[in-house]
Amino acid sequence: MEKNTRFYICTICGNQIGMIRNMGPKVVCCGKEMELMDANAGQGAPEKHIPVCKVENDKVYVDIGEVMHPMEEDHYIQWVAIVGDNKTTRVAFKPGQEPKTVFEYIPNSTVYAYCNKHGLWKLEKID
Ligand SMILES: [Fe+2]
Repeated sequence: MEKNTRFYICTICGNQIGMIRNMGPKVVCCGKEMELMDANAGQGAPEKHIPVCKVENDKVYVDIGEVMHPMEEDHYIQWVAIVGDNKTTRVAFKPGQEPKTVFEYIPNSTVYAYCNKHGLWKLEKID
């Protein structure tokens, strides 16, 4: 089920993966177990990272965040994803772009945002 999607990172090379189905064995990169990314646990300001979501006409308007996150070369929101019961959609960003997007509404979904400096952030159960 998409709802069980988890994101992992290699602390050596920076590779990131989204785990679609977890069958148990550890996922290894650069000879080391990949680290599960804990959401909302980074050092950054929550108001610049936690997704702000507005649902209107079966669409979800997402801003990162309540105070817009910087989109500089060395510090920016790299991707935003919506994870629902049976569907995941992810959008990648580049420095200079605005950290906002629009998704198709999925009931009971979670919206994630990944900052290259401050890690993973999320807003659960948007409606
Ligand atoms: Fe950040």
